[in-house]
Amino acid sequence: MVKAVVAGAAGGIGQPLSLLLKLCPLVDELALYDVVPATVGVATDLSHISTTAKVTSYLPKDDGGKAAMKDADIIVIPAGIPRKPGMTRDDLFKINAGIVKGLIEIAAEVAPKAFILVISNPVNSTVPIAAETLKAKGVFDPKKLFGVTTLDIVRAETFVAELTGTKTGSDLTIPVVGGHSGDTILPLFSKASPKVNIPDDKYDALVKRVQFGGDEVVKAKEQGGGGSATLSMAFAGYRFAEKVLKAVKGEKGLVEPSYVYLPGVPGGDAIKQATGLDFFSVPVELGPNGVESVTNPLTDLTDKEKGLLEVCLKDLKGNIEKGVTFATTPAEK
Ligand code: LMR
Repeated sequence: MVKAVVAGAAGGIGQPLSLLLKLCPLVDELALYDVVPATVGVATDLSHISTTAKVTSYLPKDDGGKAAMKDADIIVIPAGIPRKPGMTRDDLFKINAGIVKGLIEIAAEVAPKAFILVISNPVNSTVPIAAETLKAKGVFDPKKLFGVTTLDIVRAETFVAELTGTKTGSDLTIPVVGGHSGDTILPLFSKASPKVNIPDDKYDALVKRVQFGGDEVVKAKEQGGGGSATLSMAFAGYRFAEKVLKAVKGEKGLVEPSYVYLPGVPGGDAIKQATGLDFFSVPVELGPNGVESVTNPLTDLTDKEKGLLEVCLKDLKGNIEKGVTFATTPAEK
């Protein structure tokens, strides 16, 4: 029996993500949780689809959060507010930090062994918040906490494919590491497999497009009422969740970069030493217990990549500290 939970299920990412999880044969029970009453309708709608997963819905009343997450195997969190034009992901911190902390507190209590996948922005800070919250509750397993950065990889695959004339972007493997926001997103085209040739005069624009792909969507959605990426993010969140679920079932060789707590994962210490950071998105090999090992993506970088890394590290440090401080500072009464 595999129980999956979507926390923030009625939102722009939550709905398509829930649909994808409902279609997944690896999920037996799909619990949808959100603060808005629309959650009930979303669950009823999905429940008519003739796949295996049994769909249930929960609202905050009557301890619905606890009921939703009770004994969950995997909890995916897209909850929170999205960006509006002109905002950075960090501008979401004020609201989303508290939302993520509250959800993690519930998870820690009723599903301490669950894999937790954080999508809510700013991921660079919400994952440290999640880690500190789990630590405080005495149930932190770094191998099971992931910041979902898959959309950066998906974008890199797509944009490189457009440039090189590759038919299907996902046939390319392109490590994108670091964080999930602007300059902290570090695409490593030199490590693409199969090898790709990015013309020199196209390199800077390609890097920027991957780093600021989220802004491209925010801008495009301005005319339709506003919002940020929902469908591509749902795809990315699902792609990572599916890998986690497949690894649990014993499938081998599943690797995808994810934003993890370096001191707590095998192979993480060397990357912590190289970056001076506790959190960094790195290629993660998944196994039945979550992170099996991580590989250091920062060796043999090109000069351009070294330059990008320097900027990435500076920004990311502040984002991480902000999350840790938020989670470890007692709330004012
Ligand atoms: C994205 O990368 O598209 C998401 O993180 C949403 C955003 O705010 O850009």
